[in-house]
Amino acid sequence: SDIEKGAYPYYMLKEIDDQPAVMRRIVQEYTDTLGRTVIDEDIIKQITASDRIYVIACGTSYNAGWVGKAILEKMTNIPVEVHLSSEFGYNMPLLSDNPFFIFLSQSGETADSRQVLVQTSELGLPSLTLTNVAGSTLSREADYTLLLHAGPEIAVASTKAYTAQIAVLAVLAKAVGDSKANPSSLDFDIAHELSVIATVIESIIAEKMTISQLVEDYLATTRNAFYIGRGVDYYVSMEASLKLKEISYIQAEGFAAGELKHGTIALIEEMTPVFGVITDKKTAAHTRGNLKEVESRGARNFVIALSSLAKETDQFVIPDVHPLLTALVSIIPTQLIAYFATLQRGYDVDKPRNLAKSVTVE
Ligand code: G6P
Repeated sequence: SDIEKGAYPYYMLKEIDDQPAVMRRIVQEYTDTLGRTVIDEDIIKQITASDRIYVIACGTSYNAGWVGKAILEKMTNIPVEVHLSSEFGYNMPLLSDNPFFIFLSQSGETADSRQVLVQTSELGLPSLTLTNVAGSTLSREADYTLLLHAGPEIAVASTKAYTAQIAVLAVLAKAVGDSKANPSSLDFDIAHELSVIATVIESIIAEKMTISQLVEDYLATTRNAFYIGRGVDYYVSMEASLKLKEISYIQAEGFAAGELKHGTIALIEEMTPVFGVITDKKTAAHTRGNLKEVESRGARNFVIALSSLAKETDQFVIPDVHPLLTALVSIIPTQLIAYFATLQRGYDVDKPRNLAKSVTVE
């Protein structure tokens, strides 16, 4: 069953491996045999009628929200803001005239997110929860729910819920975009693209021993590490560094590649590992330039690049997928990097110190 780790040494590895099946399940649950999206019409109507979408979340779900923003804006032409629940709750920004709220929460129980939902509901504003847990608090209290269908996630470090959130947001974006007859949405064959992604994720996971060896070299003893990228590659860098730091205890940060030189580059020393994420054609050359800057200050670069943008010297190359969905594949090697770094440094992958799977206090 889904909650048995069977032959796996850790739930996290099992949950990383679950991801191709989760992508296929999302296609099954949310599209029909003609590739059309299957989503509650009321949700689509409400979002189509709104002038701004507010995505509210914590932790890994927050990082998924940023990737979702890029897809939603492209497909729907509706502006999207992404906020941390714990900030939004006490410093609510000026809202638009017709806001629509999307709460992202694997557990559906996060207190920081719930307190925002209580406030927005008091204001009478429409809300949708994307969660992995049917009947959870955030699901019951929001107007609408879309389930992630990722199966139980046990490891504290979230993996399959992240990719599931992005995939379901992409389906939702397509559904709203189609209802507005947006050409970019009508051309987007989400069922096909997610099926391609499932296969690509499998091919990346098949290379896990290569990643394990590379990681040993880069991360066995380092004190810190950086992930850099631009646009969606920056959003992936935020999640990749969160994954790495929360379980391996390596001090890791994700940075917008171009911002590095405005401060953080001071931290680069001889042999500091810097992971560059390159999946976007329009920023690839710029991020490569930033990688050169850190290399000349002693950094040891590790490049994760999309095949069509790759150079021979890149450490890890991933097959091309739809340009709006690259996060779903570029995140996979970074999950494995965090997993193997933690094993090699001798920590319990599934139970990092000081962290809980779901945080029900503000
Ligand atoms: C906790 C977990 C994180 C998770 C965050 C949000 O802090 O340790 O892994 O991303 O809560 O959880 P949620 O269930 O709301 O997605």
